[in-house]
Amino acid sequence: MNLFLLLVAAYLLGSVPFAIISSRVFGLADPRKYGSGNPGATNVLRSGNKAAALLTLVGDCLKGAVAVWAAQALGFSAAEAALAGLAAFFGHVFSLFLRFNGGKGVATALGVLLGISPWLALVCLGVWLATALITRYSSAAALAAAVSAPLAGHFLVGSPAVVAMLLAMAAVLVWRHAANIRRLLAGTEGRIGGKSGKAG
Ligand code: G3P
Repeated sequence: MNLFLLLVAAYLLGSVPFAIISSRVFGLADPRKYGSGNPGATNVLRSGNKAAALLTLVGDCLKGAVAVWAAQALGFSAAEAALAGLAAFFGHVFSLFLRFNGGKGVATALGVLLGISPWLALVCLGVWLATALITRYSSAAALAAAVSAPLAGHFLVGSPAVVAMLLAMAAVLVWRHAANIRRLLAGTEGRIGGKSGKAG
């Protein structure tokens, strides 16, 4: 397989919207129609169905990890495998199946980190958990983890090409959280497990 085909396959895999699939499986409303409107695990949790949120989290995370693992198994370099992960991340954020709309990329980014280096994923997951425990804001936790990923990647992975991709992923992830950042600053962001994504 050549690199172009790999990236197209990774993008298509990333485009699969697990928030919408799991909501249909569990007979829930479309997550784009309630809470923050984001098709992601945090918003599916606002439906009150933890199993659907967990399925969303695992599915979206695996998309990123599988894209990297598949590239590694096919003999692509570490930088090319990270690029495949980035393509899956872009698939999630700009999904072909959602008319190029999509989620904010947090779970898929975690999967990409897992594929690149389990230690890197563990560090960022630790940052996410610590921030979430302290603030109870999923978005603040995601932002802290996103910012820490390129930094941790620099020390744990080292490859400048991979770190550049982690930087690109973090930049898009922060940009996708623009509305969350505004709500965090205004003090109106919803807490984890609350019903609304717009008011705490
Ligand atoms: O995983 C996305 C999270 O960081 C924010 O989600 O629904 O509160 O905008 P949401």
